[in-house]
Amino acid sequence: MSAQTSVNSPERSSGQAVDQRAKMLERAMSRHHYAGDALLEVLHTAQELYGYLSPGLLREIARKLRLPPSHVYGVATFYHFFTLQPRGEHTVMVCMGTACYVKGALGLLEVLERRCARAGSTSPDGKVSVGTARCVGACGLAPVIVWDGEILGRVTPQELNRRLDALAVAEVRDDG
Ligand code: FES
Repeated sequence: MSAQTSVNSPERSSGQAVDQRAKMLERAMSRHHYAGDALLEVLHTAQELYGYLSPGLLREIARKLRLPPSHVYGVATFYHFFTLQPRGEHTVMVCMGTACYVKGALGLLEVLERRCARAGSTSPDGKVSVGTARCVGACGLAPVIVWDGEILGRVTPQELNRRLDALAVAEVRDDG
């Protein structure tokens, strides 16, 4: 019976939308009979619905699927396609593969970490999520970043700064 109560997400901003998402997640778990081995699929659904897997959401899923919270957390952090923090409006990944590293990927990452957030997190203003990737298969264009899913090659720190300026990302602003 307890498995039928709705998921209480920590995000309660818009009640109606939250209810809908909770119901849809509940339906997904119900479809799998609240079986623990459906964890991956349930996590996928939860991320699609909420955009990220908050600690509260993970706890709730663990409870519903009758799994140890540590196991659920472990699975969510093991797979790189799950994110435990809200995503920003834009996602910028820096390729840290060998070719890109040699051509200055670290400098690009430094720009992002200075202006936005550390790799794996989102800027405080919610505009940019920063990440790193292994070789994305465009080594001839090194250094490469993936900006909202689009591969950009031979990126310089200056160009990256310009792009961040265009988003009005805080910090380093030359207001006069
Ligand atoms: S190392 Fe960056 S694309 Fe291959």
